[in-house]
Amino acid sequence: MKIFIDTANLDMIREINSWGILDGVTTNPSLIAKENTDTPTRVREIAKIVDGPISAECMATDWEQMVTEGEKLAAIHPNINVKLPMCVDSLKATKILADKGIRVNMTLIFSSSQALLAAKAGARYVSPFIGRLDDIGAHGTDTLAEILQILRNYDQLSDTEVIAASIRNPTHVLEAAELGCDIATIPYNILKLMVSHPKTDEGIAKFKADYEKVNGPSQ
Ligand code: G3P
Repeated sequence: MKIFIDTANLDMIREINSWGILDGVTTNPSLIAKENTDTPTRVREIAKIVDGPISAECMATDWEQMVTEGEKLAAIHPNINVKLPMCVDSLKATKILADKGIRVNMTLIFSSSQALLAAKAGARYVSPFIGRLDDIGAHGTDTLAEILQILRNYDQLSDTEVIAASIRNPTHVLEAAELGCDIATIPYNILKLMVSHPKTDEGIAKFKADYEKVNGPSQ
């Protein structure tokens, strides 16, 4: 499974990129606003750090403006993909952008029918929001499983990759991996949680202490 980081914070992106496990980055308007910047500026900066897909979300609400804005965002760097919120206008814009060779990440996906239509329109990625489904009492990973099954049923939809988004905990990541999801986009704090385990920390401390009993200070 490819691992993306879901943030627009450059320090977090630099740190996780240095781990050697990062395949791409997703941003959204809320994440960009937290950094007090704008999408074109920030994704240009991210593209200098990460060599992989970077999602940049359009703010336009009608399909013609989505196409214009999407073309501008995609022109910033070859790794930029255009994030569009799921609706009728974004389906139309996806078809046009995909025909021009521009990759679209259809976001705010909450149902399998939305994912099916986005894939049919030519979206390169679909992003089901599993955490926000859990928030309203649904089971996000059930929807994720259904989307993966539906897209795998058809060769002509196989170019669409599924991004497990709105991840709230390491279990969401593991459930996505068990389902064979293509990508998980993971917040920085969840990536940090995935690394650590108290028994690992305890084991490192004991090995160091035992070594130093015989050899003196190790560093
Ligand atoms: O970037 C899209 C998605 O991952 C947002 O997650 O935590 O705001 O529901 P969240």
